[in-house]
Amino acid sequence: MMTGVSEISPAPDAVPSLSQQLTDAVGAAITAAYPEQAGADPLIRPSDHADLQANAALALAKKVGANPREVGTTVSEQITAGSAVGNVEISGPGFLNLTISDDALWSQVEARRGSARLGVPATQAGVRTVIDYSGPNIAKEMHVGHIRSTVIGDALTRVLSFLGSDVIKQNHLGDWGTQFGMLIQYITEHPEHPWRHSDLADDSEATTVSALDTLYKTARKAFDADEAFADRARARVVALQAGDEETLMVWKEIVDESEFYFDEVYARLGILLRAEDSRGESSYNTMLDGVAAELEQAGIAETSDGALVVLSEDVKGPDDQPAALMVRKRDGGYGYDTTDLATLKYRIDELEADRILYLVDARQTLHFRLLFEAGRRAEWLSEDVDARHISFGSILGPDGKPFKTRAGDTVRLMDLLDMAVAAAETVVREGAEAKGTELDEAALTEIAEQAGIGAVKYADLSGSRTKDYVFDPERMTAFNGNTGVYLQYAHTRMVSILRRAAERGLTVPDGVPSALSDVALEPAERALVLAIDGLGDVLAAVAEDLEPHRLTTYLYDLSRAFTDFYEACPVLASEGSVRERRLALVDLTRRTLAQGLDLLGIAAPERM
Ligand code: ARG
Repeated sequence: MMTGVSEISPAPDAVPSLSQQLTDAVGAAITAAYPEQAGADPLIRPSDHADLQANAALALAKKVGANPREVGTTVSEQITAGSAVGNVEISGPGFLNLTISDDALWSQVEARRGSARLGVPATQAGVRTVIDYSGPNIAKEMHVGHIRSTVIGDALTRVLSFLGSDVIKQNHLGDWGTQFGMLIQYITEHPEHPWRHSDLADDSEATTVSALDTLYKTARKAFDADEAFADRARARVVALQAGDEETLMVWKEIVDESEFYFDEVYARLGILLRAEDSRGESSYNTMLDGVAAELEQAGIAETSDGALVVLSEDVKGPDDQPAALMVRKRDGGYGYDTTDLATLKYRIDELEADRILYLVDARQTLHFRLLFEAGRRAEWLSEDVDARHISFGSILGPDGKPFKTRAGDTVRLMDLLDMAVAAAETVVREGAEAKGTELDEAALTEIAEQAGIGAVKYADLSGSRTKDYVFDPERMTAFNGNTGVYLQYAHTRMVSILRRAAERGLTVPDGVPSALSDVALEPAERALVLAIDGLGDVLAAVAEDLEPHRLTTYLYDLSRAFTDFYEACPVLASEGSVRERRLALVDLTRRTLAQGLDLLGIAAPERM
């Protein structure tokens, strides 16, 4: 399918899901009953009447010209004994209600418990994925707009890596542009101006980037007010672009200062990005002349008003003229578009990407359409490379408008996190009091941080990516509902059951409790096994459509299945093999939930 993809080798301990097994079993039955319909999808779906159901009879009936119930019966007769299907019933117009045998259910539990990766197949093995995410701008605060790119990009990185993809993270820092002229010039003329983190007193509230932000605003003011300074700043841009050593040294220092602060944010958020993942816009400078020349020679870029542009063949601008990608400005300078052209080429030629994901908000949709179109016309992008803009909506304030401070400024990312952690602290404190959990202040602070950060990430990941959502600290830290805190709390309940079991000397057995067949599995146990069993299929789907909310929904459903199970099936109060198998289920549910939270980049606390 893709170039450079080695033979996909599933992990040795890959466990096909029950849903997959039934798809295979019913698929084989369809082939046996109607050989000319071989390959038809059995349409295995969740069921209210059985464990799962197959809905294919209706569509098949049309094709083979028989009535659906008859088709259902014919197919069901072909389902082989020995498959996971324990019982089939035909209902309504030909749905097959499928009940899985207890043995088959339990062997899934056993197989998953025996696997370090819970039996999840490595469906992305051999695929090299380049993920472009976060991409903050040097000398500016990271704001709410950067959070989504950072959080969603990191979750996708974790999921794809877990599925065996060779993931290359790229932090496309905005580290180049004319604004550096005035920054560098101002620093040079005002060496006393404090802007480095080492210039700031230890107890200073101001973070490094706040200091850089102030520098930016001060330099901007000077630029606007003082014509002579503006000229010197412009000359500085030229010196920077020409590679003047002293100028570059100051530039580098500004970049390092900003990165120091970005790293603080990443550390607090538990983001995987490291210094070696930073490849700023400036690193493509040496490629820009060549890219412009190549596009011009190939006749893809043309001169218009003295500038070199790529005119789109399929997108029109508001003026009904073809939308354009700016390759070289009239003054000979290069900008964001040219850098992205070079970056695309680099990722294909040098990084040998099979897949390139750009995590950038919806406002840049046109930019990426034009970029990919140019890439295809230049024959850099072929069918073998899947380049995608992974777009997302905005974070809104309580008024439903883009989130701003009262003064009308964009909200700093760190402030947003503080708000969520404060809300989480209230909830955790109240919860601990109500439940009589003993938590000292240090533990409480740590849990509130985990819950607050988890809540922000979960809220960001749990909606459909492309939708805007309202930032509401209270709602997102609620113990009840589809929140990160709810999942973390469910995790602590599982830990607590296992802890109490251990205190009584009841260890969770490895492997199959021998006497399973004595007592049939209860409905709530069956439902929990099926929920646990779905992780691999959900992750495979996330890798396809890159929608992390599938995983949040899955974990929410898993936690609810656990709650139902816990209400219906006593664990510590039961006995013998039933208690053993229930402890094994709690243990596997906990591992599955913890794995899922880890793939979202959310902490799984032991107490709350
Ligand atoms: N720095 C850009 C911004 O803040 C995001 C960079 C996205 N990546 C890219 N290859 N254009 O809007």
